[in-house]
Amino acid sequence: MIRRDVDLQPFNTMAIRARAAHYARVGDQDELQEALEFARRQRLPILPLGGGSNIVLTGDYPGLVLHVDLQGLTVEEDSRGALVTAAAGENWHRLVMHTVSRKLGGLENLALIPGRVGAAPIQNIGAYGVELRDTFEDLTAVHIASGELHDFSRADCHFAYRDSVFKGAARDQYIITRVRMRLPSQWQPRVDYPALQEYLESHAVDVGALTPARIAEAVTAVRRSKLPDPQDIPNAGSFFKNPLVEDALYQRLKSEHPDLVAYPAGERWKLAAGWLIDRAGWRGRRIDNVGVHDRQALVLVNPGRGTGAEITGLARRIAADIHDRFGVDLEPEPRYYP
Ligand code: FAD
Ligand code: EPU
Repeated sequence: MIRRDVDLQPFNTMAIRARAAHYARVGDQDELQEALEFARRQRLPILPLGGGSNIVLTGDYPGLVLHVDLQGLTVEEDSRGALVTAAAGENWHRLVMHTVSRKLGGLENLALIPGRVGAAPIQNIGAYGVELRDTFEDLTAVHIASGELHDFSRADCHFAYRDSVFKGAARDQYIITRVRMRLPSQWQPRVDYPALQEYLESHAVDVGALTPARIAEAVTAVRRSKLPDPQDIPNAGSFFKNPLVEDALYQRLKSEHPDLVAYPAGERWKLAAGWLIDRAGWRGRRIDNVGVHDRQALVLVNPGRGTGAEITGLARRIAADIHDRFGVDLEPEPRYYP
């Protein structure tokens, strides 16, 4: 079951060439436990892998890449709505389309996000005004060190914008095997995100007659218009998180740049990092094999199949430039390995 010296280029959407010292694809709980036992015996670090759409391989991985391919999807409807249970290896978009085809609302704004179910809680995936935490019920994960199964409630997960306990206190300690979501019986469309609203208006969509499927279709169209398909141009989606800044800095930037894009976030402001990078002149720039997408400056692309070092080098240059120009610090969204 364990393969050695495996090429990871087909398994990351940045299409970075790197090798795994050990690799296993696990399709059920027994295979998962067997692979964990192997890693424990050999004292190997583990990289749990889903669709590889939010990682940057900066070199060869010295441990075990564990491709989580557990399958299974059930939907139980009752008076409160529906309980959706999905194994970690299920494709996220397929799950969303399955729910909307059953006329169940709640996940439609998250259509077309690449990757697998097991990675969705890691950064609390979000798009078009909705986050996973809005419908999240609970998850089950295997504790890597002991092999024991643990349940995590929504509170246990400490979800925040692009963040969860799995990026903090529980980092690198668990393999998520199953996620449950509760979809409400009383569905409310969420269409206030500017780009989504513009799409619905320009296509004369009757907002009174919206369905989850119609919103998923609109979200899919908006996403296709600006985000590159990794099959055509390798990328990992937004490369930086949208930064949260204090009011004083926001006020200064807003007075210098009246068209700055920012959203209120409690006492602070969330800035559109794509706007900052675009304004700094990076959109569409190419440096050797790598570059900045021409329709969305927050997306770094790898059209020349460059190395992880080329990507992280470009990211560092952009972050330094944004710091110098605006006094804002950008933090990468994808996780770097090793
Ligand atoms: P991977 O890249 O395989 O893994 C990501 C992280 O999760 C790694 O640290 C990995 O170790 C860990 N992980 C994966 N599976 C497990 C598991 N079973 N147990 C424990 N840890 C695990 N994200 C958004 O939030 N919103 C968007 O709108 C969005 N748009 C995107 C658009 C494009 C074109 C691309 C390429 C990416 C986009 N992303 C977006 C980022 C990405 O799709 C999400 O982060 C997604 O959840 C990653 O899933 P994956 O299976 O590919 O994860
Ligand atoms: N903008 C520019 N120039 C650019 C890019 C963006 O001016 O080159 C402006 C846009 O015009 C808009 C604003 O910045 O006014 C925000 O842009 P957009 O709506 O494209 O969203 P984003 O903030 O860049 C975030 C998420 C995406 C998610 C979309 C939709 C983060 C880091 N990114 O992007 O998530 O799909 O909103 O909700 O929060 C991802 O995480 O990988 C990802 C793609």
